Amino acid sequence: MSMSLVCVKDYEREAHRQLPLNALNYYKSGALGEVTVHENKAAMNRWYIRPRFLRDMSKRSLATTVLGHPVSLPFGVAPTAMQRMACPDGECANARAAAKNGTVFTLSTISTSSIEEIATHAPSSLRFFQLYIYKDRDVTARLVKRAEAAGFSALVLTVDAAFSSIRREDMRNKFILPPHLRIENFQDNDKKSTLVNSSAGGSGLKEYVTALFDTSVTWKDIAWLKRITKLPIILKGILTAEDALLGLEAGAAAIWVSNHGGRQVDGVPPSIEALPEVVKAVNGQCEVYVDGGFSEGSDIFKALALGAQMVFLGRPLLWGLTCGGEEGAHNILQILYRELDTIMALSGCATVKDITREMVIRKEYYSK
Ligand code: FNR
Repeated sequence: MSMSLVCVKDYEREAHRQLPLNALNYYKSGALGEVTVHENKAAMNRWYIRPRFLRDMSKRSLATTVLGHPVSLPFGVAPTAMQRMACPDGECANARAAAKNGTVFTLSTISTSSIEEIATHAPSSLRFFQLYIYKDRDVTARLVKRAEAAGFSALVLTVDAAFSSIRREDMRNKFILPPHLRIENFQDNDKKSTLVNSSAGGSGLKEYVTALFDTSVTWKDIAWLKRITKLPIILKGILTAEDALLGLEAGAAAIWVSNHGGRQVDGVPPSIEALPEVVKAVNGQCEVYVDGGFSEGSDIFKALALGAQMVFLGRPLLWGLTCGGEEGAHNILQILYRELDTIMALSGCATVKDITREMVIRKEYYSK
């Protein structure tokens, strides 16, 4: 089947055909009017690539590092919740595909495979753990300790989702996690593992988040987190220079520019447009990552030129998992590898370091 699926969009189309409506709409939708979902993609085309020619392109490498860990690709896997709705192995399949491609996998707190399952089923993976802060701080601290014990290399603290936003498709569907699945990071069969399996009238996920997540979190809690772990802390969901600087002050090891795939505040800037502001503010003091709307090798190239150390992908891997489990996720990463390698080769960049700021320019420059 994969012979006829040659790009991320092909996988997306096929996954839309295969997934049940409850899961499909949860995966694809965004907040409110979905302006930011649309803009994340549209904004990619506001940047043009400035190719340079007649440079020796016979030897090329896409290798880079993330927090000092060598990786084969300058892009990795973003945390997305509840991946076993896409295929039976869910997150384990996704982590294995990332490991096979020599890149990083990020596990969501609200995953349908546990921290320990990832360590067992993808032992060689470079893995980050995405953390949500539960009202019960002991519960939160236990997650952190388990991630450390299971060989995760960093915590990704998501700052934009203490509240679940309004996602109209999930309200219409009364979204629930199907009964054969649960949030596997919690084994007690209590609310933390199963509340999302039911709906009291709207989105079951919104009800889960409202009941359990701590909405009182502030910058001070990063100090609390730093006290209970030695793992580097990456702040995910930053969109402004101001918050990037507060993050640095709080001791973040990296800033991850993201609007949660357009699923939280509708009307915020597309990630690629917020990236330059954050890169400038951080001024080389820590690594900057980005996600949101990346589905072509050329999109990734543009973000690298704008100063991202690493690009992350959410939905594209869900489409891959849906169409072919681990192999589908692997194919997505391979497609993007080939596309990025081709763009680099054709633009005069033999290594990731060669993708400098001068390699991209705003579209408006050409209409002057
Ligand atoms: C997400 N995202 C997300 N982020 C996070 O920190 N924890 C989570 O549990 C989830 N869950 C989640 C579920 C689904 C279905 C989606 C689509 C997204 C956000 C995710 O990490 C990332 O920011 C976006 O998905 C990036 O945009 P693209 O690549 O999907 O366009």
